[in-house]
Amino acid sequence: MQVHETAFVVSTYRSYHENISKDIYARLWNNPATDALIPDILNSVSKHEAILHSLRNRFFHESLQSFFKENNKGCLINFGSGFSMYQFSLDNTLSTIEVDKKDIVDYKKEKVDLWTREGKLPSRDIQYASIDFNHKTTEEIVASLTPLIKKKPTFIIIEGVFFFLNRQTTNKLFEVFKELQKPGDKVGCVTYLPEVEKTDVYNRLLAYFDSNNDTNDSFSHQTIPHDYFLNINGYTLKEYTDEFDLCKKYVSDNKISNKSDILNESLFVLEKI
Ligand SMILES: C[S@@+](CC[C@H](N)C(=O)[O-])C[C@H]1O[C@@H](n2cnc3c(N)ncnc32)[C@H](O)[C@@H]1O
Repeated sequence: MQVHETAFVVSTYRSYHENISKDIYARLWNNPATDALIPDILNSVSKHEAILHSLRNRFFHESLQSFFKENNKGCLINFGSGFSMYQFSLDNTLSTIEVDKKDIVDYKKEKVDLWTREGKLPSRDIQYASIDFNHKTTEEIVASLTPLIKKKPTFIIIEGVFFFLNRQTTNKLFEVFKELQKPGDKVGCVTYLPEVEKTDVYNRLLAYFDSNNDTNDSFSHQTIPHDYFLNINGYTLKEYTDEFDLCKKYVSDNKISNKSDILNESLFVLEKI
């Protein structure tokens, strides 16, 4: 499976549980090739993946709503945005910058422009930046994004991405965030903690990627300890949760009784100081 296919898979998961994800536009990205991939993932890795990704979207949907209520002319910057659709459910006064690899960004722009013209999506102020985080320097990324932000308050989101990056690139991105943001701005991010590496379900995930990597689309399998997020230069941790706890909060017929049975991601909201 190529990295860009993971963006289609996650979006399709959100479309299965619109009442939880609150992403009523995810279904626009659904397609037969992704539909064909999903049963094997749910069977061979974990049947809970769709609901967990929907919960992740719900958490950030609510974080973004509350930030942009206070900062209604702010800017949402989504790093590794894939096919996330947050801005279409938020107020039309905010602007969005979608940052991802060129193939994703080009495809997303083409489709979003088309669906907006057809009236399937509400019109939003969206700018696109094609950047490969592994190949560009801090200075290059900051120089491309600064003019797009226009000094607005920002909420940066990076979810479902650290797993594919190494620590050096992750550190570089936090340097970028520090340069782009002002005090009071936020970063929402997601990772697997190293504890997850011991679970059977995580090892099934790695085995799935290994056995389905027919394209040599290589990537890291990064996990990041909780402490990392307490020691980021320029930031303080404001909120921490995980998908196991979000399940208890949002899923009424929740049948997940043990953290180690699921691919439990940790979610952090940091504030620039
Ligand atoms: C699993 S998808 C998650 C997409 C989206 N954040 C979501 O939650 O639906 C991972 C995304 O990270 C992007 N990505 C991975 N490595 C990247 C890199 N080195 N530079 C830029 N984007 C990258 C992929 O292109 C893909 O869109």
